[in-house]
Amino acid sequence: MNNGKQHKTVFMIFGGTGDLTYRKLLPAFYNLFSLFKMPQDFEILIIGRKEYTTESYIDIIRPWLKKFTRTNFRDEVFERMCDHMHYLVADFTKEEDYPRIKEVVDQWGGVQQRLYYLAVAPQFFAPIAFSLKKAGILDPVHSHQVMIEKPFGVDITSAQILHQQMCTAFDDESIYRIDHYLGKEMIQNIMSVRFNNTLFEGIWNHHQIDHIQISALETVGVENRGEYYDHTGALKDMVQNHLFQILSIVGMEKPHSNSAEAIQSQQVKVLDALIPIENGKLHDHLVLGQYTEGFIADTKTKGYLDEDNVRPNSPTETFVALKLYVDSPRLSGVPIYIRTGKRTQKRATEVAIQFKAPQGVLANLLIIKIYPDEGIYLRFNAKKPGTTQEVVPVFMDFCQSCVYENRINTPEAYERLIEAAFKKDKSLFTSWPQVLSSWRFIDHLIERIAAEQAEVYLYPAGQNGPIQAEELLNREHRHWIDEEHG
Ligand code: BG6
Repeated sequence: MNNGKQHKTVFMIFGGTGDLTYRKLLPAFYNLFSLFKMPQDFEILIIGRKEYTTESYIDIIRPWLKKFTRTNFRDEVFERMCDHMHYLVADFTKEEDYPRIKEVVDQWGGVQQRLYYLAVAPQFFAPIAFSLKKAGILDPVHSHQVMIEKPFGVDITSAQILHQQMCTAFDDESIYRIDHYLGKEMIQNIMSVRFNNTLFEGIWNHHQIDHIQISALETVGVENRGEYYDHTGALKDMVQNHLFQILSIVGMEKPHSNSAEAIQSQQVKVLDALIPIENGKLHDHLVLGQYTEGFIADTKTKGYLDEDNVRPNSPTETFVALKLYVDSPRLSGVPIYIRTGKRTQKRATEVAIQFKAPQGVLANLLIIKIYPDEGIYLRFNAKKPGTTQEVVPVFMDFCQSCVYENRINTPEAYERLIEAAFKKDKSLFTSWPQVLSSWRFIDHLIERIAAEQAEVYLYPAGQNGPIQAEELLNREHRHWIDEEHG
């Protein structure tokens, strides 16, 4: 209801001169704007400490957008978008600067949908929320949404503290926790493929599935994030959030609707049903690794310990392989192998479902390719052409990203997430119970790692983790599915 008043969407970016804003957020806005997907009446307020004017800020962002927009960059579109952009010099760490923010947004009048994107380090989330509240910006006249990106705490206790602090300013319904994996096309597609094909849904259970693999391998190292990464490691950086999101979508029951609550409550059931690893059994479930120097596509790369801002002799893992079980009627007893690592041989995020094999032939294999290739690969058995009765594996390979049209029509994760936030669609965001549940599991695992003094095995850059990660599967007569599909 707008009571006859004009509706305006005001998007505020705190940390407006950072990398995330230049590389991801502003290009996402440009894409949405050029595709007429922005709300009809909107303003973007960039808040930064640097002494820019709106004009000089626009000059700075132009080359970034030229480089990073998905849709064709056109000057006239950019100029039109910039009519809605404003730069305000303000220090988000200083309460006394907030009344000026209020003055700017209040002058726009109308009933506003106010979105606060905190593109800042996590220790500033709560102070910004407090200051917004104290300055009266979070008034009851307008609607308010805050968008924050992981890490949400470093363990369950710090996550709870952050949550309580945020909830003194925003109610949980207004907190949009970003996991950019949920904005990826093929992760959304897992649900569509599962629930719209009897072909798949009918066999998505422990009677038919031998095991599941979820892999997110990256050729990049820690780049300029040594300090953050060295105190985080792959378990907290990738598994607790991105990979558990994928796992919960792969393992969930069909939600009764497309609403955020329905989807998220099914996802959280999977996380709650993860079976904690028993004392003394860590070796059967976990392999940690750290990259040393090596070669990626013929280029020599340094080892983790030589990266900037990494502690000498740091024990931080850059690779994790994990075997998990979910205690659910659907997947009970099905091993789920998860693996993520930096400086591996190739970049690939994918989910593989290997089915049980009839005697004497290869198992059916379904691979959902998430990144960089997007598509679905299915291996099955057929007769070799000719007179022989020999059965051979054949495959169907649907490559979604190979089609130019699909590629240009596929929004990037941040574009999708910002659009969803405008529409107050929380299904692409992480719910608080999901955060809690995944920390509960990871905290317990980290306790086991400390108690059992799990070793961190070395692997040369360019290899998909330490050899022990292979052995984890080989012991059970399985292997990581790496090279067999196109
Ligand atoms: C981030 C992690 O959340 O996800 C990074 O902090 C990682 O370490 C990145 O590289 C991977 O995202 P994507 O979209 O490149 O798979």
